[in-house]
Amino acid sequence: MDLVIISDVRLSDFSDMMEIEKLSFPEPWDIDTFLAVYTGYGSKSLAARTKDSVVGYCLSRGMKDVLHILNLAVHPRFRHKGIARRLVEEMAAYARSTAKSIVLLEVRVNNIAAKSLYTSMGFEYVCTWKGYYEDTGEDASVMIMRTSKGK
Ligand SMILES: CC(C)(COP(=O)(O)OP(=O)(O)OC[C@H]1O[C@@H](n2cnc3c(N)ncnc32)[C@H](O)[C@@H]1OP(=O)(O)O)[C@@H](O)C(=O)NCCC(=O)NCCS
Repeated sequence: MDLVIISDVRLSDFSDMMEIEKLSFPEPWDIDTFLAVYTGYGSKSLAARTKDSVVGYCLSRGMKDVLHILNLAVHPRFRHKGIARRLVEEMAAYARSTAKSIVLLEVRVNNIAAKSLYTSMGFEYVCTWKGYYEDTGEDASVMIMRTSKGK
């Protein structure tokens, strides 16, 4: 596989990211949503890139004590290679380095791949938000990782 580097998202990454988003979610974010998160207060956005293109991304927003992961996706051709794990590890390291004690996220209850990833990284189930996803009415599992014992 090509060398994959993790670094901050740049504006020029957005067309690749939109493509991955469309391939990854039934109700993909539009460009306005991406830009609002990217430019919003406390934003931290990471891209996984080869020499040719962006192959994955993770977007988050930091609050005082909490880093909230808002989006994570990897291009289908680049899945099962540990890229999502590296993106989330880098986010957790960023949270630790900015004195945030918790990384928080929501995941669809039926998203087995993402839930396996998060559980294997030390995220713990907190609660269920019933009917959280408007498109399907699906429930969300809320999960957290405490950075002091993050992996
Ligand atoms: C979920 C997703 C980000 C995983 O990306 P990835 O780069 O393939 O994941 P990794 O290779 O880093 O996998 C790390 C771990 O996640 C779990 N995992 C990943 N894909 C899995 C799958 N299809 N089934 C079960 N477990 C899976 C495994 O525990 C894996 O560890 P292992 O390789 O040692 O078995 C990717 O499948 C994706 O983009 N899905 C669509 C978008 C999405 O659901 N995003 C998450 C929203 S909360």
